[in-house]
Amino acid sequence: MIDPQVIQRGLRTVAIKPRVIVLDTIDSTNSLAKGLLSRAGDEDVIVVAESQQSGRGRYNRHWHSPLGGLYMSVAVRPHLEEGNAALLGILTGCAAVSAIHEMTKLAARLKWPNDIMLSGLKAGGVLSEFVTMRDNTFGVILGIGINQNTSSKDLPTEFRDRATTILTELGRETSREELAYRIVNEIDRRLAVVYSELSFSSVLDEWMELNETIGKTVMVDDGTQIVRGVATGITSAGSLRVRVGSSEVEIRAGDVIHM
Ligand code: BTN
Repeated sequence: MIDPQVIQRGLRTVAIKPRVIVLDTIDSTNSLAKGLLSRAGDEDVIVVAESQQSGRGRYNRHWHSPLGGLYMSVAVRPHLEEGNAALLGILTGCAAVSAIHEMTKLAARLKWPNDIMLSGLKAGGVLSEFVTMRDNTFGVILGIGINQNTSSKDLPTEFRDRATTILTELGRETSREELAYRIVNEIDRRLAVVYSELSFSSVLDEWMELNETIGKTVMVDDGTQIVRGVATGITSAGSLRVRVGSSEVEIRAGDVIHM
């Protein structure tokens, strides 16, 4: 069982002061965190579950959430303009990849926008969701799902050739409490920098170092069209720049396939 006190004791946060809730099984940690944030007012909260019945991925896809994985939502009320909310997903991706690397020494990377990759295969993802509060301020739920102590055979068959787990890559189990508090500490450290610099430029620079998309030939489905070209960078809003022939296209959201 995940011990909430081990997570709470490992927190070294300054920008956010979250309380930790751990549940056995739940529909979705993001859904619970959303409800708590809109009721709790100022309080930041971390929700972690042993498993999820209706875990959500990007585009409302089902996020397969068996026992052994890390399913966590960090609910925050950022002191930022609403327009920056999408960049918090980018920030969270960087935080998760750093935490995995620090803890396991595995070379975790990001696929645009926030897929967490190990050996070129998906090992986790980030779902950030916006919440409008009653007082018209906003909150953000940073949902992180990581295939941690699950084995590759726990993954749905249709994903097995595209996904992996930390257990598979490392060959041993790791502490979910430790990964949880490390990720939150990494989120907090970056948030503190963003608050003091009033800019996401350090996060965007870091994303450029940690990603494995830029420079590759990609196929991107943004829901309305399929764009094929070379990924050249990201904009200050986190959109992906793709060079198609002699022109450049900016993609705000979509699924990327590395060719
Ligand atoms: C993706 O599609 O890559 C993002 C997956 C995010 C899944 C996590 S698991 C914890 C949190 N609760 C959810 O329902 N989803 C996110």
